[in-house]
Amino acid sequence: MLEPALKTYIERIPKTELHCHLEGSIQPATLLKLAARHGIELPFTDEEGAKAFYEFTSLNQFLGIFALACSTLKTRQDFETITLDLGADSASQGIPYREVFFTYAYHDRRSIPWEEVISGIASGREKVKQQYNVEMWFIADIDRTVDPQDGVRLVEMAQASRDQAGIIGIGLDSQEIGYPAKRQKPAFDLAKRLGLHRVAHAGEDVGPESVWDALQSLDVERIDHGVRSIDDPALVKHLAERQVALTVCPLSNIELKVYPQLRDHPVKRLTDAGVLVMLNSDDPPMFHCNVLDNYFAVAETFNLNAADIDQYARNSFKAAFLPDERKQQYLADLEREIKKLRSEIL
Ligand code: HPA
Ligand code: ZN
Repeated sequence: MLEPALKTYIERIPKTELHCHLEGSIQPATLLKLAARHGIELPFTDEEGAKAFYEFTSLNQFLGIFALACSTLKTRQDFETITLDLGADSASQGIPYREVFFTYAYHDRRSIPWEEVISGIASGREKVKQQYNVEMWFIADIDRTVDPQDGVRLVEMAQASRDQAGIIGIGLDSQEIGYPAKRQKPAFDLAKRLGLHRVAHAGEDVGPESVWDALQSLDVERIDHGVRSIDDPALVKHLAERQVALTVCPLSNIELKVYPQLRDHPVKRLTDAGVLVMLNSDDPPMFHCNVLDNYFAVAETFNLNAADIDQYARNSFKAAFLPDERKQQYLADLEREIKKLRSEIL
C-alpha cells in the first residue's frame, strides 16, 4: 500500500501534464449531457455504464471508442464545455500548466468546421485561466492515417489560429501500425519552418523502429509514450544523451494491453537509464485514471520515495514547451514547494 504521507505529497507537489487528449478527457457525466443535447444515442445510459463500457483489447479498438466520444462534440459550446472541465480537473490535481492534444481529423470527418473547434477551445482556455489560474496550451495532432496533404493543411490551419487558441505545436496520433511517421514529413517540415513545436506518439503499438522514424523523419522534440524504446539499447542511449523527453502514460499502456501488468512496464528502467521520463494520463476517464493515479500506481509498484517523485515533477516542467525564463520560474517555484512539503508532510 502507498504510504499516506507520500500520497499527500504526490497530491500537493506541482506538476505539469503534457500528454492528455481533449476528446479523450470527457467525463462520463458530460458525455451523457452532450449526447442528450444533440439527441445522440450512446451504448450506455449512466456513468457506471460508461465506466464499464471502457474496456479495451487494443489501441485500434480503443480508437473506435474515442471516435464515439468525439461524435458528441458538434458546437463551439461543446468544445468550450470540455475545455473548462479539463481546467477544473487541472486545478484539483495540482497541475498549473497543461499541454493538451486535440485531433481535428475526428471532427473533420463529421464536417465540423475548424472555426467551431477553435473558438470553443479558445474561449474555454481563457475561462480556465481566469477561473482556475491554470495555463492551458494546445497541440494540434495529425491523425497518422490522413493523407499527407491533409497533414499539411492541418499545420496551415493551426498556424492561422495559433494566437487565438494558444496552439504551440503539432503532434501525431492514432493508428501506429501500418502508418509510419515519415508519411507526414511534409507537414512536420512545414511546422518546423513556422516555428511550431513538434511531437509524435510512437513506440506504443509498434517497437523502437517507430520511435527512430519519428525522430529521424519528423525531427520531433518529444516522444509521446515511447515506452517500447526499451527494446533497443542504442535508442535508450540516444534518448538519454539528447534528453529527448518521453511523455509516458503507464496506466494507459496497461489498459491498452501494451504491457500485461504495471510491474512489467519499463517506466522505471527508462528513468534509471537516464531518459527524461514524465508521467501522464492520456485519456483519463477512458483509462479510469488521472495524473495522480499514475503517480500513485508507479510509486507503489516500484517502491518510489519522495526524491523519485520530485524528479518526475521536475522532469514534467523540464519537458514542457515553456519559454526558458518561465520554465526556470516554474522550476524555482517547484523547489520552494518541495522544501515546504517536505517539512509539512514527511
Ligand atoms: N495513442 C494513439 N492515439 C491516441 C491515443 C494514444 O494513446 N489516445 C488518443 N488517441
Ligand atoms: Zn495519447
